[in-house]
Amino acid sequence: MWFVSLSSRILRSYSHVLGRRGCNTAAFMPEAAGFEGVSSRSSLQDFSVSNSDTFWSAVARHRLSWISPFTAVQDCDLSQGRIKWFDGGKLNVSINCLDRHVHTSPERVALIWEKDEPGSEVKITYRQLLEMTCRLGNLLRRHGVKKGDCVTIYMPACPLAVASMLACARIGAAHNVVFAGFSAEALSERIRDAQSTVVITVNQGVRGGRVIELKKTVDTAVQSCPTVKQVFVAMRTENPVIMTDRDVPMEEEMMKEAVVCEPAAMDSEDILFLLYTSGSTGKPKGLVHTQAGYLLYAALTHRYVFSYNDGDIFGCVADIGWITGHSYAVYGPLANGGTTVLFESTPIYPDPGRYWEMVQRLKINQFYGAPTAIRLLLKYGNHWVQKYDRSTLKTLGTVGEPINTEAWQWYYSVVGDKRCPVVDTWWQTETGGICIAPRPSQPDAEIVPGMAMRPFFGIKPVLMDSEGKVATSNNTSGALCIAQPWPGMARTIHNDHQRFTATYCQPYPGYFFTGDGAYRSEEGYYQITGRLDDVINVSGHRIGTAEIEDVVNQCPAVAESAVIGYSHNIKGQGVYAFVVLKKSVDTKEQELSCQL
Ligand code: PRX
Repeated sequence: MWFVSLSSRILRSYSHVLGRRGCNTAAFMPEAAGFEGVSSRSSLQDFSVSNSDTFWSAVARHRLSWISPFTAVQDCDLSQGRIKWFDGGKLNVSINCLDRHVHTSPERVALIWEKDEPGSEVKITYRQLLEMTCRLGNLLRRHGVKKGDCVTIYMPACPLAVASMLACARIGAAHNVVFAGFSAEALSERIRDAQSTVVITVNQGVRGGRVIELKKTVDTAVQSCPTVKQVFVAMRTENPVIMTDRDVPMEEEMMKEAVVCEPAAMDSEDILFLLYTSGSTGKPKGLVHTQAGYLLYAALTHRYVFSYNDGDIFGCVADIGWITGHSYAVYGPLANGGTTVLFESTPIYPDPGRYWEMVQRLKINQFYGAPTAIRLLLKYGNHWVQKYDRSTLKTLGTVGEPINTEAWQWYYSVVGDKRCPVVDTWWQTETGGICIAPRPSQPDAEIVPGMAMRPFFGIKPVLMDSEGKVATSNNTSGALCIAQPWPGMARTIHNDHQRFTATYCQPYPGYFFTGDGAYRSEEGYYQITGRLDDVINVSGHRIGTAEIEDVVNQCPAVAESAVIGYSHNIKGQGVYAFVVLKKSVDTKEQELSCQL
């Protein structure tokens, strides 16, 4: 296996050498100036773990705008599943992502909407995004949405989707973004679990030149969602759709609203959003992220893992329906006052040069994508990359699944011309933001292909051996846990705290269990080896085998099924379903067509 061959390599780490030489820590992270004994990035890393409260307190005060300051840095007990950060503090996430930047640079571009058709991008300034958000916040309020409610958003990546997320944050409602590729059934299950009264969607989506009937899917989904009172419908295309009394034409109604919207003062631990993800049972988990800790962690990781500087254009091509889109297309970049790309298309539309043509046209500085797309594109050959100017690129990132050495080397050598560090970032919906990545250790510290390598500030990874004890040696594998809490971590599973503690806190009491296995090299670098539970990862999308079995079993001919993942050289994993048919089914005469 490729990770084993890597693990046996002789690795050299320069970070300690550079650390001893020292660096200007205050220029790197201004709030670190007051940390005792911190004179280098590696000592900053050590400090952030061993003086976690001091570290996070300084960072939270420096990087977030508070309506009233917090009184306690944290109150956490992982063995009990109790996680609280910045208690007593009040803030509003939309003020942090919008108002404070409008104050200093209203005309700075916040969003570049890279629409499906290349060359038709739309730029939205911070002033415009605040206006959209406020109008939408007022509209939601007028339709009775209030603090504590949860709004489901079923939209492709577009400015109105971002404004919808921020409008919820403005008025104190939680959002529940459901990936706009999910079926009506998956959508309705998530709406019901979140008990949403309002759903926001678009008439139709457009992806890879194809029109997708999103409003129709919502119509089907809400038939089994008695809580839904209103469906707001934005117009992504010009094609009209059937509107009922329940449906609200979004743009038209927004224009009737004021451009000022009073922000709700939220407690640090109020819910910011739910995001459903697969676990090892058929029922997806609504992971809960809260206000201050999540935003702070998304902002800090965005700035430091990718070396994001003011004025850079950040291109995360993940959809907003996944945690990557939440943290690195929306909240991290906007909290940092950055310019972020919202990518609506696919890596091969209209041709396999799409990403790199976009990099050239939009002058993207950081590009963040999935290994599955890199593997796909390398098969089409180098000319699709080399015909475009990629000189603006400074950092390349990957997420969601292991990246094999061949794909890593291609990304580094062909896409990045051997100039740009490639950061393989390991994290999960549960962690809120990146936990292990080669940077921000020293800029010239070694990066090993296919390894996430080093923990982020405040993160203390440990490996558990088969007896449930912490493995202390290097060159060893085990169950990956995180030994102390950090602000970005999920707080609970919506309506099921018991499942949260059972899944993440009880397997190794006092530690957060990630569900992943990892290898730690001789040099102490981490490499993720894959899930330890019944979750498979197809093209970077996490799917429970039990979820697929549930769907397969709905086929009338099927009596029983068992699903497993198998190794696939582009998608990472593919799906095999072993099926037992009902006795009454005659396979000779009947064609077995099931719509999954
Ligand atoms: O198994 C790990 C894999 O993706 C899982 C998390 O999936 P999800 O919550 O959908 O979030 C994906 C985007 C953050 C993890 O438990 N995974 C994520 N990043 C990596 C990875 N596997 C290997 N290397 C990575 N860099």
